[in-house]
Amino acid sequence: MEFITKVGAADAVKADCVAVGVYTDGELTASARRIDTASKGAVRAAIKSGDITGQRGSSNLLRALPGVAAARVLLVGLGKSGEFNDKAYAEALRTSVRGSGSGTRELAIAGGEWHVKGRDAGWHARTLAIVAREVAFRSDELKSKRDSTQHLPERVSLLQDKRPADEMRAAENGLREGIAIANGMELAKRLGNLPGNVCTPRFLGDQAKTLAKEFKLGVEVLEGKQLEKLNMGSFLSVARGSYEPARLIVLKYQGAGKSAAPHVLVGKGITFDSGGISLKPGAAMDEMKFDMCGAASVFGTLRAIAELKPKINVIGVVPACENMPSGRANKPGDIVTSMSGQTIEILNTDAEGRLILCDALTYVERFKPASVIDIATLTGACVVALGNVNSGLFSTDETLATDLVRASKTMMDPAWRLPLDDEYGDQLKSNFADMANIGIPGNAGAVVAASFLARYTKEYPWAHLDIAGTAWKGGAAKGATGRPVPLLTKFLLEKAA
Ligand code: BES
Ligand code: MN
Ligand code: ZN
Repeated sequence: MEFITKVGAADAVKADCVAVGVYTDGELTASARRIDTASKGAVRAAIKSGDITGQRGSSNLLRALPGVAAARVLLVGLGKSGEFNDKAYAEALRTSVRGSGSGTRELAIAGGEWHVKGRDAGWHARTLAIVAREVAFRSDELKSKRDSTQHLPERVSLLQDKRPADEMRAAENGLREGIAIANGMELAKRLGNLPGNVCTPRFLGDQAKTLAKEFKLGVEVLEGKQLEKLNMGSFLSVARGSYEPARLIVLKYQGAGKSAAPHVLVGKGITFDSGGISLKPGAAMDEMKFDMCGAASVFGTLRAIAELKPKINVIGVVPACENMPSGRANKPGDIVTSMSGQTIEILNTDAEGRLILCDALTYVERFKPASVIDIATLTGACVVALGNVNSGLFSTDETLATDLVRASKTMMDPAWRLPLDDEYGDQLKSNFADMANIGIPGNAGAVVAASFLARYTKEYPWAHLDIAGTAWKGGAAKGATGRPVPLLTKFLLEKAA
C-alpha cells in the first residue's frame, strides 16, 4: 500500500473512490457538500432516505454520481461534530479503507478536513498511514492456502485543500513517519506471531543480522561462552533449562556523533515461556509464544528509526532464550549470581523475565546511556491492573516518564504510570540471597517486578514498560499488536528534534 498527499477538490479528484465525511447531526464536511452540489443532491438524498446516518463506524458507497470525477463516493460517518477526537478520526480512516469497494485501486480520503483539535497536519497524515496499514496487515503467512483475499486499495491519498507550505511539508513528513512506523509494527507483529518452534533465540539473532544488513546497523550476537565470560549467571540459569541455546542480541543505530550518549531499548526475548519447573497451566499456554514481544518491539522500533534516520544514537539489546522445564532447569529455591554481583533466590521459575532482563540491564551500563527503556511482557498482574488498553509504565526519572506518557497519547499507544515506592521492594527480601525473584502472590505483582528491575538500573535514567496486556490480543482476533513501537519511535524522534 502506498501513500501520497493530493491537493484538490473532492468532486474533481481522479481516483477510483473518494471518501468524504458526514456528521450525525446531518452536518456535511466541505467535501461532502461539494459532492452534493456537483451531483445535484445525492448526498442529502442518501441522508434523507436513512441510508446514511453519519454515525461513527458507518459508511455508504455511492456509484457513478453525475458531476463527480471519481467512480465511487464513500460517505463516512464521523459521529457528532462536537465529539470528534483522535479515536473517531482513526475509526473514520479504518472505515474508509475497509469500505472503499473491491474495485478500488486508488482511494482518496478527504481527511484534510477531519480535523482533531490540538493535532497538527503531521499527526493527521502519520495516523492515516499507520491506521491504513493496520487494516491491511495479514497474519496468514504460514497457511498453505491464504485466507480469501480482502480487496484493499493499493494507493491511499490524503486529499486536502491547498495549505501553507510548512503544513504541506508537515503532512508529507507525517506520511513518511507513518509508513516507517507501520513497517516497524509489521515486523514486530510478524515476529510476535511466529510460533516458538520457528522463532527461537537463534532465529531472533539471525533476524537481527538481516535487519542490520538491510539498514546498515551495527550488530553483535553473543552466545554461550561469551555470556559466561560476562558472568550473566541469572540469564544463563533460565536458558540452561532448554535445548535451544541463548543469544544476547545488540543492534546499533548511529545517527549522531560517536560521543552522543545513546538511548537504549532492552526487550524481553523469551521465545516460549512454559513457566519452567513452576509450570504454567495448559489453558492458553500457546500464547506464551508472544513472550518475546518486547524483543520484537525493539527490532520494530530500530527498523522505523533506521528508515527515518533521525540525528540520535539508539542501541537495542535483546536477551533471548526459552523458559522450559528439564533436568537442567532452575528449581524453586535455587540461588543464582547476576552479572551485577547481586544474588537472587528463585522462588518461582515462572518469574523468568526479570531474571534475563537484570543481566541485560547491567550489560548496557557500558554504553553510558542517556536513557534506558526496557519493554517486557512481564506480569499477569499488569493485565489485571490495566487490561488490554494501557501498557504499564514505571520510571525513576520524572522527565523520562513525562516524555513517554506524552508520546503514548500522541500515538494512541497509551501507557499509564504506576508507582515504584521503596516499600514494594520490601517484598523481595530473602533469608538466603540478596533478593528473591517474587513477592507476595496477588499483591501488586507488576510493581514488585518493576522494583526488582530497579535494583539493576542505578547507573542511568530508566523506564520500564510492562506490555503483558497490550502486546497481543487473545480470542478470535489472536495476534501481536505491534505495540509499543509507535510510542517508542515517537519518543526517540522527539529526543532527536
Ligand atoms: N510472561 C509471563 C507474564 C504474562 C502472563 C504475560 C500472562 C501475559 C499474560 C511472565 O514470565 C510470568 O509468568 N510472570 C508471572 C510472575 C509471577 C510468578 C510472580 C505471572 O505474572 O504470573
Ligand atoms: Mn513466566
Ligand atoms: Zn515470561
